Amino acid sequence: MIEVRTAHTAELDSATLGAARALLDAAFEGDMTDDDWEHALGGVHALVWEGDEPIGHASVVQRRLLHRGRALRSGYVEAVGVHANRRRRGHGAAMMEALERVVRGAYALGALAATGEAADFYAARGWQLWRGPTSALKPRGIQRTEKHDGDIYVLPVAARLDLSGELTCDWRDGNVW
Ligand SMILES: CC(C)(COP(=O)(O)OP(=O)(O)OC[C@H]1O[C@@H](n2cnc3c(N)ncnc32)[C@H](O)[C@@H]1OP(=O)(O)O)[C@@H](O)C(=O)NCCC(=O)NCCS
Repeated sequence: MIEVRTAHTAELDSATLGAARALLDAAFEGDMTDDDWEHALGGVHALVWEGDEPIGHASVVQRRLLHRGRALRSGYVEAVGVHANRRRRGHGAAMMEALERVVRGAYALGALAATGEAADFYAARGWQLWRGPTSALKPRGIQRTEKHDGDIYVLPVAARLDLSGELTCDWRDGNVW
């Protein structure tokens, strides 16, 4: 039986978190760093279970995104991956549906950085490409993050957004977006 379950990081035991990390290592073919995994913690996870085996993972964590003079409470989606042999069966969509409910209920917007191959997956769900310049609030101030321009998608909820304006993320180790 296949089911999607959501849980806060605090509700998941170390064996489950370890299995989710192993699944993501395989789904991203070794490109998942310790920082990437750390970014996925501290919020709500959606896990697809096949029996007692996780075959899909995604999570949403809170970040502040600066836009039009506001520090917007944002649900930032991280670590979206489905086992390579289980793709195109609706599991990714089911996880996103669960997390989008969290975003719509708790945040001013949703945001995420898409890999090239997943951009159509998010666009098909109504996530909108951020067309404007991106930047990060680094320890020495706001600095452009050109290499992420064109990678960021948002799910508008309550915030008034100008998708061609500047969007600045808060600071963290590893990939800032
Ligand atoms: C992206 C990913 C999570 C999608 O998971 P999935 O379970 O295969 O997605 P779904 O079956 O729910 O797909 C739903 C719809 O999204 C779209 N979609 C999904 N994968 C797609 C792809 N590779 N290219 C284009 N559209 C895609 C399709 O419209 C699809 O509907 P359809 O199968 O009826 O045509 C999965 O391909 C994956 O794990 N990729 C590797 C890791 C990765 O890149 N993660 C994203 C990080 S930002």
